[in-house]
Amino acid sequence: MLASRIQRRAFSASARNLSKVAVLGAAGGIGQPLSLLLKQNPKVTELALYDIRGGPGVAADLSHINTKSTVKGYEPTAAGLAECVKGSDIVLIPAGVPRKPGMTRDDLFNTNASIVRDLAKAVAESAPNAKLLVIANPVNSTVPICAEVFKARGVYNPKTLFGVTTLDVVRASRFVSEIKGTDPKDENITVIGGHSGVTIVPLFSQSNHPDLSSNADLVKRVQFGGDEVVKAKDGAGSATLSMAMAGARMADSLLRAAAGEKGVIEPTFVDSPLYKDQGIDFFSSKVELGPDGVKQILPVGEIDAAEEKLVEACLGDLKKNIEKGVTFVAQNP
Ligand code: NAD
Ligand code: LMR
Repeated sequence: MLASRIQRRAFSASARNLSKVAVLGAAGGIGQPLSLLLKQNPKVTELALYDIRGGPGVAADLSHINTKSTVKGYEPTAAGLAECVKGSDIVLIPAGVPRKPGMTRDDLFNTNASIVRDLAKAVAESAPNAKLLVIANPVNSTVPICAEVFKARGVYNPKTLFGVTTLDVVRASRFVSEIKGTDPKDENITVIGGHSGVTIVPLFSQSNHPDLSSNADLVKRVQFGGDEVVKAKDGAGSATLSMAMAGARMADSLLRAAAGEKGVIEPTFVDSPLYKDQGIDFFSSKVELGPDGVKQILPVGEIDAAEEKLVEACLGDLKKNIEKGVTFVAQNP
């Protein structure tokens, strides 16, 4: 009797902890290592993989890894996509083309805007309650694209839409630790704004090393860290492995918050009140995550004069990038 009650309680607890995570673009440079990391996350119980090519192959490969989660790859059809995202708690979108040397992230807009729009439509229709994590660039525009797609279908929830800017935070932490000879795990750098060039604003004045805010080379390295990788890959794409780690970290933070952990904070690009008075509807800042996604958007806090200037430069570009995404959906619904 007691045993069966304990069993029942254990079952209902584990039932609540079931987490389906879908990756759209799962066979790509980011998609594959991201899916690998998610397969190793014990909080993920069902991994659903979709790509226009190769999804089932990646899934078959990952399914031999001896962790408990199930893995399924879906056919590249509308029905396959719908089935993949249906019932998902989290959907990640790394689908889209990456940069080549000499390109800006905005140069990817013409190709990636329609890819993200169409995937967002499928999520809006088949998994409107999922937390949607957008990795595809230009993030400053693809996130507003998703919002517009959701609004048009009456299912927009600003608490569940995230632009993944975690890689900027990861880079800032690593670069600082290299300069200071510290362990990166102790270097928690807030990065605000957006995810491209001058829209990326690291706040070293709030870190363990406030002196670094006047280190223009370091600030520039964080802002243009992506270019470093694009150049080194020499035409073969952009950051994939570090991005997979950053995407897996963001997904894990949301899963931890969903499981009831308190105080889970990640900087991420969300529908934000912080600069709405200046016509900027999306902004990355520290966000406390909760079971429903965004729990609380934290203020930027005190920043120094050099950082004020960086924010000023960020806002102009960011506004244009956001408007470009909104206009795209209005003209190409
Ligand atoms: P990739 O070309 O290696 O992989 C992209 C994958 O998307 C491919 O497998 C492709 O088949 C798939 N795909 C294309 N259209 C699709 C569709 N309609 N539905 C499903 N899958 C589709 O590129 P990558 O290196 O993995 O980069 C992907 C995107 O992520 C790029 O836009 C890149 O700029 C961006 N990125 C963002 C960050 C960030 O910090 N947010 C970091 C790195 C890269
Ligand atoms: C990055 O920051 O590495 C990504 O946004 C990819 C890129 O184009 O730089």
